[in-house]
Amino acid sequence: MLYDTLIRNALVIDGSNTPGYAADVAIVDGRIARIGDLGDARATDEIDAAGRVLAPGFIDVHTHDDTVVIRQPQMLPKLSQGVTSVIVGNCGISASPVSLRCDPPDPMNLLGSAAAFVYPRFSDYRAAVEAANTTLNVAALVGHTALRSNHLDDLFRTASAEEIAAMREQLRESLEAGALGLSTGLAYASAFSASTDEVMQLTEELTAFGAVYTTHLRSEFEPVLEAMDEAFRIGRHARSPVIISHLKCAGAGNWGRSPQLLASLEAAAKTHPVGCDCYPYAASSSTLDLKQVTDAHRITITWSTPHPEVGGRDLIDIAGEWKVSLLDAARRLQPAGAVYYGMDENDVRRILAHPLSMVGSDGLPEDPFPHPRLWGAFPRVLGHFSRDIGLFPLHTAVHKMTGLSAARFGLKDRGEIREGRWADLVLFDPATVRDVADFNDPQRAAQGIDGVWVNGVLSYQDGQANGRREGRFLARQGDLRDSFR
Ligand code: ZN
Ligand code: CU
Repeated sequence: MLYDTLIRNALVIDGSNTPGYAADVAIVDGRIARIGDLGDARATDEIDAAGRVLAPGFIDVHTHDDTVVIRQPQMLPKLSQGVTSVIVGNCGISASPVSLRCDPPDPMNLLGSAAAFVYPRFSDYRAAVEAANTTLNVAALVGHTALRSNHLDDLFRTASAEEIAAMREQLRESLEAGALGLSTGLAYASAFSASTDEVMQLTEELTAFGAVYTTHLRSEFEPVLEAMDEAFRIGRHARSPVIISHLKCAGAGNWGRSPQLLASLEAAAKTHPVGCDCYPYAASSSTLDLKQVTDAHRITITWSTPHPEVGGRDLIDIAGEWKVSLLDAARRLQPAGAVYYGMDENDVRRILAHPLSMVGSDGLPEDPFPHPRLWGAFPRVLGHFSRDIGLFPLHTAVHKMTGLSAARFGLKDRGEIREGRWADLVLFDPATVRDVADFNDPQRAAQGIDGVWVNGVLSYQDGQANGRREGRFLARQGDLRDSFR
């Protein structure tokens, strides 16, 4: 038989957290047809992959790519890393279902200006992704803050019974239309006033669907353990899996506590499905939050609406030039975005290495001077953390970005190289793969990524997107509790 594509002599790291093996892989009609020694088989496209690793395409479980997948469907920042699927709608902010009456509240403005929010129903968003012919597969969460912005005239209070009922109805409709679950961003002022009970009532909608609850915790600073407890209580109430977003110890006074956080995660995991994602950097990034302004560590401004000229400069230098305090400078810059150098490398390593953690970039595609995680998160785990410092074997790095992620979010027939699965694949050179984007020059494609196939179609090669756009919208499939059993 004639295959569509035959990738010969690859070291196959299949996503299941087991060491690689040498094999040929054949693709037909978007799926992996055969794996093995396919000596005399023929294909329309044949690739010699000697010396290269063939892995499942990476799944970016934590993104804010909601609108960029439609507006810039090539998705080069992710495609160039070997990412083939993105999960959007994290941290309480999603492009749908949203009906704005004014400018998007912080941090929904991370997804774009008011003009970007044109999806009053989840099904509208899904249809727009499908019509955009995006390069990558897209699955979506519904944001709690997005729901609040639809129904509350004032985000700085908890929702009333009527408002909760209205949010529940929108959430249920979204879940019926294929949403993966609900995300919250309780640390942000626009959701901080929501009581635990408000969130619990919303998550009751998740139960019947077996949908997931993901959360940017109410605090990543000193009360982080209490915030984790709140997340687990919400998940138990809803009988929903809980994914803690970008788990970290934020703020200088909080460094060294990652063993406590991971002990809390492990304790919860004994009786309930829980996990976390994290990005491989000791600096965070989001909108410029006055509560996080400090002189204890460096803060870089990435964008500012009134002062676009300061993008890429340190807050302390801007304040010095203006002869004002850090806080006053931060106030004048609003609305703005920032990178906070507020983590300890040892905590990052411990969390990244933990068996319950997946890799998610948390990249901010709208940012003109983005945190380098947008272009570098996945190759950084493969190159820097696995190969260069030996934090874990390469097959474990791959598992944290493929098999584990697909199982947690129910991305059926993806995340592992097996016969019959979708041919989302990445071919890379294990000796040279590395992130190139850094904090000074953050928009640079990774090195060592030789080829990326999405649904069986080669979409990136020789350092370039080739224009093929075969991504699909991935609706929730099945009960997401299953992968934890
Ligand atoms: Zn977040
Ligand atoms: Cu996020």
